[in-house]
Amino acid sequence: MADIVIIGATGGVGSRLIPLLIRRGHSVTGLHRKDEQADALKDAGATPAKGDLMEMSADDFAAIIKGADAVVFSAGAAGSGADRTSMIDGQGPLKLIEAARATGVKRIYLVSVFPDAGRDRDTGEGFEHYMREKKKADAALASSGLDYVIIRPGTLQSEDGNGQVAAGRALTYGDVARGNVAAFIAELIDTPEIRQDIFELTDGDMPVDVAVSNLRRI
Ligand SMILES: NC(=O)c1ccc[n+]([C@@H]2O[C@H](COP(=O)([O-])OP(=O)(O)OC[C@H]3O[C@@H](n4cnc5c(N)ncnc54)[C@H](OP(=O)(O)O)[C@@H]3O)[C@@H](O)[C@H]2O)c1
Repeated sequence: MADIVIIGATGGVGSRLIPLLIRRGHSVTGLHRKDEQADALKDAGATPAKGDLMEMSADDFAAIIKGADAVVFSAGAAGSGADRTSMIDGQGPLKLIEAARATGVKRIYLVSVFPDAGRDRDTGEGFEHYMREKKKADAALASSGLDYVIIRPGTLQSEDGNGQVAAGRALTYGDVARGNVAAFIAELIDTPEIRQDIFELTDGDMPVDVAVSNLRRI
């Protein structure tokens, strides 16, 4: 089956994605930044690869993703400051694109953000900066020529989810369980004919496999 690298493997989405991919017969390498995270990744069946997105160069990315069939980028600075947001949410995917080009890795799944996030409230400059960095990364990936899929989830909830989602190119904003995001990505990875596309994702009433199947372009 496929060799998948997860950037953000210790996060809410990434950690839920590992077992789903292993169960589907894939092998998984997971980026981590702290030594103590390596054992948890191994216990989950993944191969740990150490690296800090605040310091990693495109060459460092290349060393980790070389030979992979697909890379999932679900890392995020999680509101820890503008500089970290720029380096992790903004520069991270840009370096990954450069590394993918250098190594011949073709498929990238980028967890981005729903464009309508926060539109119903008075957001601060930090949040707007986050939205701009996410959009810059989306735009770079969409024009990269790679076989990308950009996933734009609604407000993430720390739940495994019930496997029922709404997925489409334009949706009404809503919440989505981190487990449902992971299940959606796992299904996309096993549906490689879906590529060069962007999807919004919320919890919904359609089983993930049906939702993904419906996104195929005829
Ligand atoms: N929160 C929301 O409602 C929301 C909505 C839409 C989209 N998103 C996006 O969805 C994605 C996944 O979210 P999530 O909830 O799974 O995120 P999360 O739980 O905060 O996990 C973030 C991941 O990024 C890693 N990371 C952070 N800084 C790093 C660094 N310097 N070097 C290496 N790894 C680093 C974390 O590692 P550690 O475990 O070491 O911290 C973790 O694996 C993010 O891109 C986020 O922006 C979030």
